[in-house]
Amino acid sequence: MVGYTENHPEFLWGTFELKKNSPQTADNTFTPSASRSDSNNYTLYKGGTPFSQVNVPAQPGAHRPQLRLDPASQKLTPATNAVLENQTGGENQPNGVGNIFAITSQAQGILAKSKAPQSTFANYNLIGTVWMKANSYNLNSDQTSAIGSVTLANTTAETFVQAPKNTPMANVVNCFLCHNPTSYSFQTPPPAKLPNRLIALSHVLAAGSPYEVPNSISGQLLLRPDLFRRK
Ligand code: HEC
Repeated sequence: MVGYTENHPEFLWGTFELKKNSPQTADNTFTPSASRSDSNNYTLYKGGTPFSQVNVPAQPGAHRPQLRLDPASQKLTPATNAVLENQTGGENQPNGVGNIFAITSQAQGILAKSKAPQSTFANYNLIGTVWMKANSYNLNSDQTSAIGSVTLANTTAETFVQAPKNTPMANVVNCFLCHNPTSYSFQTPPPAKLPNRLIALSHVLAAGSPYEVPNSISGQLLLRPDLFRRK
């Protein structure tokens, strides 16, 4: 989930997961070790699978493990077992980890008591949120410019782009690895590389997509998004 606030045109990028998606290891403690595993079953993890065999992409073609499709059942094999390597996304702000746990527990408490259909959200944990220093977003910002949950990932979408440690910053991966000022295109063949643009954060707005936003951004930092929104 993303949203912007004043002075944060880069958006704040947060993610939530169902409690039973996968095992979660405390920030900076994951090792792909053959002697580590979790005995419980999760939606995306078979109990007892060694951590040396998790988060391994199966791919079509000659890669190993090779991804196969059974045309009759429409099932893909092998299944990938997944683990969330950083339980709170490597949160690096004062009290950050405690704040995430407190928000999750308060929200789950309120939602669980609710009779509304939204009470189902009591089954979700906030993993974390990542953003940048106020007014610091520029045409060269990337994942290393981040603060907050600097190794944030969601097991279902970023299974294979998880960094084991939140330091050094040069090695972190988070949402800004892909959602950054680099322009993407879904056209084939792709057009010549477009200059970086601050709006490129959202891939929904990519050149060639139905929601394409013309690449007319000057590089000027949008400090007050609200002024633009109201027109
Ligand atoms: C490995 C690259 C990569 C990473 C890392 C990544 N995303 Fe994305 N994200 C994409 C791509 C590509 C799409 C567009 C998918 C499509 O529409 O086919 C996308 C789409 C989205 C969308 C839909 C709207 C939009 O702006 O495109 C949201 C919201 C989103 N991602 C949130 C996140 C969050 C939150 C994180 C960090 C926890 C994250 N993403 C990390 C590549 C990435």
